[in-house]
Amino acid sequence: MDLNIKVNDKNHLDIGGADAVDIAEEFGTPTYVIDENRIRENYNKFYSTFSKYYPDFKVFYACKANTNLAVMKILESEGCCIDAVSPGEVYTSRMLGFSGDRILFTGNNITNEELKFVHDQGAVLNIDSVSALKRLAKMVDPEGLKISFRVNPMVGAGHHDHCITGGVMSKFGIMDNEAVEVYTMAKDLGFNPIGMHSHIGSGILDPEPFKLAIESTMDIAGKVHQEAGIDFEFVDFGGGVGVPYTPEEKLLDLDKFAEVNVGLFKEKLEEFDMGNPTMYLEPGRYLVADASVLLVTVNSVKQSYRKFIGVDAGFHTLLRPAMYDSYHHIVDASKMDAPMTQEVDIAGNVCESGDLFARDRPMPDVEEGDVLGILNAGAYGFTMSSNYNSRPLAAEVLVTDGKCEVVRERQTFEDLYAQQRVPPHLE
Ligand code: LLP
Repeated sequence: MDLNIKVNDKNHLDIGGADAVDIAEEFGTPTYVIDENRIRENYNKFYSTFSKYYPDFKVFYACKANTNLAVMKILESEGCCIDAVSPGEVYTSRMLGFSGDRILFTGNNITNEELKFVHDQGAVLNIDSVSALKRLAKMVDPEGLKISFRVNPMVGAGHHDHCITGGVMSKFGIMDNEAVEVYTMAKDLGFNPIGMHSHIGSGILDPEPFKLAIESTMDIAGKVHQEAGIDFEFVDFGGGVGVPYTPEEKLLDLDKFAEVNVGLFKEKLEEFDMGNPTMYLEPGRYLVADASVLLVTVNSVKQSYRKFIGVDAGFHTLLRPAMYDSYHHIVDASKMDAPMTQEVDIAGNVCESGDLFARDRPMPDVEEGDVLGILNAGAYGFTMSSNYNSRPLAAEVLVTDGKCEVVRERQTFEDLYAQQRVPPHLE
């Protein structure tokens, strides 16, 4: 099994050298627990594997996966760059010490104010539409400004329909067949378009769509190079590399993956005589998913028409199962050696029937008070959480070599209404 599960000598779940049951006791639940070393390992594996085959290689962490300041700071210290999709992500990255040239901004449906803000922060703009290009040209001095474009490579893949971002149904990018025209337009406006970007989707364990996307993006880039006279400084193939969530799924063979994809990239560079632009990739999930566990406590065991294990978190804490029907492996962190004795539904505390973390899941004899670990919660976990049902947001704890530190306080009830005002006539 390729899931990241460690057990200590008390038969409790181990997270980065700390005991999950002790963490739950000390900090309460629900709590996201982040293993610092695992993030560093994931980054270094990803970076070194690709740079071995193509040294002009950079990793832009898709921080939408997890914007916890500690997580971003860890990646900053490793030399990683940032893929930002909103002015807030750009702001946070700048605040943490990422220089503008280490941030690529790939927004879509961006307002003038947002474009201007991102430009003034020094981030490189990766433009998604002719509309944004023209509006940007009116707001900033385009002369020599380095920009890039997101193109639709007409290849899409992903673990769920919502997570497929290429092809005719996609709202993202400029069309493949208008690329030459758009890059020429940018040049005529005075810009210096030096990059091309594509991203086909998220949560992809099958290497095939990536190959097609590299070929297709490079065919578009080659045409733009030859017909619009653009010399690319970088080509960015986005993120999307999946990780195993179920015990049956296998880790992608990253070395093979890098070798094949870099090979295709180099072939196309040669075919179109494009020199040696830097290759960018934008992993989000790959770097952070298996570095975090969401700890929850069982508060009720109920035999109804089905057996429900009720926990103190819900889809406001981790949305992926409810939103995408995503599988997250769940362990009883209090008794990791216990045999599976039953199939149960693991239900959250939100007032909706769809608030389930698992259906018909083999589990041991789970008891009230047990701590459950919901695995692979590091990507799109906390960042997609909400205050629905007036539930305070969870706490986050960072584990470094077995030492725990709170990196996000649990919200309080006061936080729930801190930004609201009751107008005087209702006082
Ligand atoms: N680059 C761009 C332009 C993206 O839109 C994304 C993800 C990534 C990179 C990173 O993709 P990754 O390597 O993490 O697959 N909420 C969904 C995933 C949405 C992904 C959105 N874009 C989930 O929980 O599965």
